[in-house]
Amino acid sequence: MKIDILTTFPELVSEPLKASIVGRAQEAGYLDISIHNLRDYTDDKHRSTDDEQYGGGDGMVMNAMPILNAVRDITADDSGFRVLFPSPQGRVFTQEAAESYACENRLIFVCGHYKGIDERALEILKGEEISVGDYVLSGGELAALVVIDAVARLIPGVVGSMNSVNEDSFTSGLLDSPRYTRPREVEGLEVPDVLLSGNHQAIAKWRLEQAIERTRRKRPDLYEKWLKEQDDLKHGE
Ligand code: ADE
Repeated sequence: MKIDILTTFPELVSEPLKASIVGRAQEAGYLDISIHNLRDYTDDKHRSTDDEQYGGGDGMVMNAMPILNAVRDITADDSGFRVLFPSPQGRVFTQEAAESYACENRLIFVCGHYKGIDERALEILKGEEISVGDYVLSGGELAALVVIDAVARLIPGVVGSMNSVNEDSFTSGLLDSPRYTRPREVEGLEVPDVLLSGNHQAIAKWRLEQAIERTRRKRPDLYEKWLKEQDDLKHGE
């Protein structure tokens, strides 16, 4: 998968993308990530990418033209891409959206700052706004990193074991069950016996029960949705 990030703060994204699973995915050739500085697509001597708002008001708005110039330049001989605008106005990003993005050949992230982006850039590029939650970040870069991380691990081969990905929270509609590693006892707290039993069926049953109970307690909204899905499955819908 090819990923492009258009930003006025390349340094905000360059280092994090070198580490961990996303870093390794690039080294192994599963991901090809390019970072583009929007200032390189301006035509004034100050290389400015934002301006005051029409109609007045505090805060600058990002100009449409550097964004349009950049997207057109990097996609000159390509038509199969999806343009994403991280924004608190967008649809809230979910595991389902990550699964859908993971099937794309190319994602282009346009990272806005300040008061946002001139609406015409979104309209012309037919971009999709995505939010990583109901709070306001200083810009789209950290949100883009969140989305890239969640998408990268769904590309077959990126995470060693697809079983591990399939067991993730949300993939099944439930939160994950508790996990333990050595030592067997930490400050008086023991690993549950069933996990030491070697009985894989009993372990799977325990994990599922724990996942259901955790979801019910911590995320009643997800639990209700999961219950409904189970019910629909039972009735063949
Ligand atoms: N930019 C600013 N806030 C954001 C958010 N919550 N999600 C995505 N992009 C953003």
